[in-house]
Amino acid sequence: MVEPIKLTTREQREQLIRTARFNPFLLPAEDVIIDLLTDSGTSAMSSAAWGAMMQGDESYAGARSWYHFRDTVKEIFGFGQVIPTHQGRAAEHILFSVMVNPDSTVPNNTHFDTTRANIEFLGGKAVDLPCPEADDLESDYPFKGNIDLASLEKLVAEEGSERIPLIMVTITNNSGGGQPVSMANIREVSRIAREAGIPFYIDACRFAENAHFIKRREPGYENTPTVDIAREMFGYADGCTMSAKKDSFANIGGFLCTNDSELAHRERNILILTEGFPTYGGLAGRDLEAIAVGLREVLDEHYLDYRLLSIRYVVEHLRESSIPVVAPAGGHAVYLDARRFLPHIEPLHYPGQSLAVELYLEAGIRSAEIGTVMFGADPHTGEEHPARLDLVRLAIPRRVYTQSHMDYVLEAVSRVWQRRVDIRGMRIVRAPQFLRHFTAEFDWA
Ligand SMILES: Cc1ncc(COP(=O)(O)O)c(C=O)c1O
Repeated sequence: MVEPIKLTTREQREQLIRTARFNPFLLPAEDVIIDLLTDSGTSAMSSAAWGAMMQGDESYAGARSWYHFRDTVKEIFGFGQVIPTHQGRAAEHILFSVMVNPDSTVPNNTHFDTTRANIEFLGGKAVDLPCPEADDLESDYPFKGNIDLASLEKLVAEEGSERIPLIMVTITNNSGGGQPVSMANIREVSRIAREAGIPFYIDACRFAENAHFIKRREPGYENTPTVDIAREMFGYADGCTMSAKKDSFANIGGFLCTNDSELAHRERNILILTEGFPTYGGLAGRDLEAIAVGLREVLDEHYLDYRLLSIRYVVEHLRESSIPVVAPAGGHAVYLDARRFLPHIEPLHYPGQSLAVELYLEAGIRSAEIGTVMFGADPHTGEEHPARLDLVRLAIPRRVYTQSHMDYVLEAVSRVWQRRVDIRGMRIVRAPQFLRHFTAEFDWA
């Protein structure tokens, strides 16, 4: 797919971002020059995936495309039960609907926005337990996505299996800088969960990138094929949620897996109510075909080497210019550290939002705040607090942009860095109760 890039002037962008209430999510995509808002559903599909789509079987029940999809998921993920959904958050909602109640606590290395919101929507508590190494954004510790095992054991001892319906680990850790989780950490979480009789689920959106980091960074896995590393990771878990919009190159799709057939039966009843029949979920047969092809392609080690190196290219150039960025390079995005970039802006004046707005004004680059706007409000009380980090995520769509696009981004970030002292904070004018970052409206503070 080739898309035209429309160029805009600074004056036009000033008007456009004001009309979008200073929220990049509300900009028309056509008015964006380089779109790094998300890597979700924005990847380029291959000729093989497009070809498979032409063969989509759109039968309501038992379509051929469903069997291609189910068998591929089973082969890579290894779980007995596969439930297709229209995207990751639908899988989360179905899973939590059968497991979470207002007494529940669900630990994770770091919940992403939709996981946290789906748990909180059901009255449960979403607890983040990132490893201590994750606090030092500059160090090169290879597995900053790990969950803090000591804190997890403490929480399990305090709350017990009655109040912890499941333990989750997100690979890679999106809200924590796209950092990977090691196999050793996954193995230990599995042990803790099994000893306590608690199911262990993996939020698997970027499983291939995580598996490849294990191959490249964890001793003992250098010679293991990445697909086998993926199978080993999932072998320690009882189930997973997946957004096929990430590590499957698909524009839409997701699934929920479990080994518990009784649980799957209850989940399918909700699926039929909210998504569709169990052999298509919320998807067309052609979507199931594209995902089946994408799941195999994403495990190509040449592609994965290129993917990880292309993110590292941007991170290392920023570090050379002393621009604060989360290190080491993660799997799908570059994360600017907005708190160190704009130390004169208090977290409750949203330095990440200001920086995202400035990147758009400077060069038409769209990015996403991952900080106090996304995670700083209690949806039930409305109280605000600074989030653990204030980051700006430059998510890189898969197989879309070239090195020269990235050089353009580097130049723009560096120009904003040079005039950082003049950048002002922001205030929220209007925001919804849940997932406020998507539609909140802002103005300068
Ligand atoms: C780690 C993680 N979990 C879950 C989701 C939700 O997936 P979806 O957008 O397909 O609903 C996302 C999406 O960005 C994610 O990054």
